[in-house]
Amino acid sequence: METLSTAQIAAFKAIRDRLSAEERAVVDIASVEAVYPARAAASHWNFDLPAHAADEALSQTRGGEGTTDALRRALVATWALELPGRVKDADLPPEVLQFYPFWLDKLAAFLTGAAETGAEYDRDHWAKDVRFSLVLSVPGAKTQTIDLSSPMGPGQVVRNGRDGYGWSQLIAYVKAQGWKKPWLEVHTESRHTDDFSEPGWDQAWASAAAICKRRPELAGMIGSSWFYDPPLETISPRMAYLRLNPLKGGAFIIHQGPGQIHSDRAGATSPTRRGMIESGEYLPRSWLVAWPKSTLIPWADKRAAAMAEAEKEAA
Ligand SMILES: CC(C)(COP(=O)(O)OP(=O)(O)OC[C@H]1O[C@@H](n2cnc3c(N)ncnc32)[C@H](O)[C@@H]1OP(=O)(O)O)[C@@H](O)C(=O)NCCC(=O)NCCS
Repeated sequence: METLSTAQIAAFKAIRDRLSAEERAVVDIASVEAVYPARAAASHWNFDLPAHAADEALSQTRGGEGTTDALRRALVATWALELPGRVKDADLPPEVLQFYPFWLDKLAAFLTGAAETGAEYDRDHWAKDVRFSLVLSVPGAKTQTIDLSSPMGPGQVVRNGRDGYGWSQLIAYVKAQGWKKPWLEVHTESRHTDDFSEPGWDQAWASAAAICKRRPELAGMIGSSWFYDPPLETISPRMAYLRLNPLKGGAFIIHQGPGQIHSDRAGATSPTRRGMIESGEYLPRSWLVAWPKSTLIPWADKRAAAMAEAEKEAA
């Protein structure tokens, strides 16, 4: 992706043009000031820290007056206009680059819609947009983003064994040198769930494998969610692939446990799950799936070969 489309450039510029000249100056200063602290915070386990750095830069530039959603939107638009340069520096594989036009169209439409309606900038969307526009997280498919550096500490792997969920994961973790190498981490974008499907998830894991090939310092990719919970195999069988495909390919899974956020998310779209959660029949638990690159890359190579073969047969 070498440039933005004309329509994308016009949309991002229009977001900035809604501001006064003084406000635009604040955004321009913050767009420089926030970059280093946002980058420095990006590999922390707290996904929101780069957005906190952006808020801090906007507020400081205004003399400590805090910030507004209009300034936040203009800051993301400013970084989006600069995105081709950052993408080039990141040396991303074609598996990732192919998704930028789609994500940039979605971002432009989201910012434009929110600017027109004055809708509140949801904190999770703000955190995701800061990471995306600074290339701290990159597209893995149409629904999944991939953080380029995330830690996976040994504590939860040891707790998983101690609490009776198995010790084989510790061996896999040690083999992957998981405590000293950064991991990619996958997230779901709830604003566009086009690829929340088996092919979409396979694509996201394949994109991760392609990044791992270019960045030998990585350990593999992790993902943490309620949708890896084993009881879903009977409650929501169409979701079983989410856990089983990585496990079949060589991933391991770590128990994280229940929490209100996991119950809220698991019940958000499914009346079946919501009913079972409300009646106490089902308590959603979060799990961390970790797929070391030693098995992820061969899995992706096999998938690519099978896809090429299928294409040849269809031709
Ligand atoms: C993750 C998420 C996108 C999955 O949504 P989804 O693909 O629609 O899957 P769901 O199982 O929730 O389906 C919801 C309803 O759509 C229908 N549906 C979904 N897939 C279907 C299919 N293949 N065929 C027929 N109906 C289907 C069903 O009516 C289902 O309700 P039910 O479970 O009571 O039968 C959604 O749950 C979500 O946005 N959750 C909140 C945010 C979140 O959890 N993000 C991840 C953070 S880790």
